[in-house]
Amino acid sequence: MPGFQFSALQDEVLPQGPRVVVTGATGLLGRAVCREFQNHGWTVSGTGLRRARPRFLRCDLTDEDAVRRLLQETKPDVLVHCAAERRPDVMERNADAAVSLNVHASSTVSRETAACGALLIYISTDYVFDGRNPPYGEDDCPNPLNLYGRSKLEGEREALRHCPGAVILRVPVLFGEVESVTESAVTSLWQQVQEATEERRALDHCLQRFPTDARNVAAVCRKLAERARQDPSIRGIFHFSGKEQMTKYEMAVAMAQAFNLPSNHLVPLTELPAGSAPRPVNSQLNCSRLEQLNLSVEPRAFSVAISECLWPFTADKRWRQTVFH
Ligand SMILES: NC(=O)c1ccc[n+]([C@@H]2O[C@H](COP(=O)([O-])OP(=O)(O)OC[C@H]3O[C@@H](n4cnc5c(N)ncnc54)[C@H](OP(=O)(O)O)[C@@H]3O)[C@@H](O)[C@H]2O)c1
Repeated sequence: MPGFQFSALQDEVLPQGPRVVVTGATGLLGRAVCREFQNHGWTVSGTGLRRARPRFLRCDLTDEDAVRRLLQETKPDVLVHCAAERRPDVMERNADAAVSLNVHASSTVSRETAACGALLIYISTDYVFDGRNPPYGEDDCPNPLNLYGRSKLEGEREALRHCPGAVILRVPVLFGEVESVTESAVTSLWQQVQEATEERRALDHCLQRFPTDARNVAAVCRKLAERARQDPSIRGIFHFSGKEQMTKYEMAVAMAQAFNLPSNHLVPLTELPAGSAPRPVNSQLNCSRLEQLNLSVEPRAFSVAISECLWPFTADKRWRQTVFH
């Protein structure tokens, strides 16, 4: 099967609006980015791999010829590069494949984006920092603790090497409109919350997190794209993050409270689990650069935003009428 398949559907929409290609469009953030740009009049071509059909273009980003053809066919003004292996433990187990996507494919995407003269927005992570001295500004020195963080940092460097005008947007752990609760490290806590059994559920209470709504990240991407097309000084690294600091234990308790469920089976775990990839204790991002440029968005309270994402997974669908309508 060729690495890139062009969809007839895309031909119909190509002539309108500024054009954006979104890689990883089948993923959690990519779906939100596609929707955000579409809702603001952009012509969107999303790409995926295993889940691409029928809505998106199928393009294996590790196939250089396929990436070249993708950009020659779609001729974007902007490319938002979301595709990545983002699970640190999977990354350690499948290092070659993950580095091939996070580093080599990012390099190819950046080179081909530069060749077609488009703006590149590369999505990165707070895991480029070691978490020992937060909060981290854009100029602070990265020191990733695991292979995921190292690969994303290398991807950043490839992006800036090929596209000196690129925008790098670093974000922390994401939640959003998931296809299944396991799709995000935040929504997957719902499984433990719902199991209000006699058995206790121990949840990490060491690592400080800033759960961030993918829909807010998508809005920031769109604002960055629109401003950067007018103003070439909008380039380099930006940080965006939710504002509430929470451990996984605290997120789970907040979910239980939002749905009036018991939380006394949830137990705070104050020691880090052995055997998983090391993670920063607190990689809080300082987001003032975006704020000063009026390119940020104000996140809603975590309890409100997460309830909206979880209601499809509740037993009681009356939530929809009572809370959101
Ligand atoms: N999720 C988080 O908590 C988080 C936190 C910080 C930063 N980030 C960053 O945000 C970005 C988006 O993350 P996400 O959570 O939306 O990821 P995700 O849901 O895991 O989606 C990954 C995407 O990559 C695509 N993909 C995988 N291998 C591919 C290949 N060889 N060729 C083309 N596409 C391929 C997948 O396509 P198919 O599924 O169709 O195969 C999917 O669309 C990533 O850069 C990640 O590093 C995420």
